[in-house]
Amino acid sequence: MKEKKSIMDRIAESNKSVITGIDEKDIEYWVTTYIMGKAYKVPAGLTIMQAMEFAGYRFVRSAGCRAGFCGACATVYRKAGDYKLQTAMACQTRVEDGMFLVQIPFAPGNKALYDINKEEYNVGTLFKHYPELARCVSCNTCTKACPQDLEVMDYIQDAIKGDFKAVAKESFDCIQCGLCAIRCPADLVQYHIAQLARRMYGRYECQEPEHLKIRLKEIENGKYKEGWDKFVNASIKKLEKLYAERDRESD
Ligand code: SF4
Ligand code: SF4
Ligand code: FES
Repeated sequence: MKEKKSIMDRIAESNKSVITGIDEKDIEYWVTTYIMGKAYKVPAGLTIMQAMEFAGYRFVRSAGCRAGFCGACATVYRKAGDYKLQTAMACQTRVEDGMFLVQIPFAPGNKALYDINKEEYNVGTLFKHYPELARCVSCNTCTKACPQDLEVMDYIQDAIKGDFKAVAKESFDCIQCGLCAIRCPADLVQYHIAQLARRMYGRYECQEPEHLKIRLKEIENGKYKEGWDKFVNASIKKLEKLYAERDRESD
């Protein structure tokens, strides 16, 4: 039977050729892409992230999980002859001929500071911390920019109505990449607003799940102490070995 490979293994494998070098004679198709204004010929079929590495860029910022989860690799680009400014995650999007790429290491969105235990559970709390919420003009630009295909404008409208549960549900898969916020004409920071709504919903409305109560009890009773101590007291070498041999999620 064919051995099943996890997503992480497949990503590591596909990155290997880029990291270790490809013999150019083995590459049949090439595309030309522009990175920070400079043209590069890169093999077709790579992700934007792999293409940039092939071109010689080393990611110190703007990269994390390489699997579409962490939101670190936000990218904006234009294609020759197309007026639209496009958004993408560099680790999840194939490079195309004629892409003009710019990495966004992070979106400098204002983030409110609050103690969730001291907030009132009503829509006023959202407006108190994010008054710009009232400025949404329902243009839907945020939804179009979202690489997670979230209905960002809809969850913002739910936030305006104070429907915390709907915001929590609609924004659950947000990876905080910031691409919605950098395109918003009303300067909203949608992902922080949604995060506050999720926290409020979790703190004041959502019932504590039974299985969580059971697990907390188990922790209190020391069920995982032995395993925890094993990690805390292990040498770096031992930790590396344990990491290499860890159980991995399969598809
Ligand atoms: S981009 Fe801004 S103004 Fe437009 S719908 Fe989204 S939140 Fe509202
Ligand atoms: S809602 Fe905004 S921050 Fe969240 S994934 Fe979509 S574009 Fe990124
Ligand atoms: S590197 Fe984590 S989403 Fe792209």
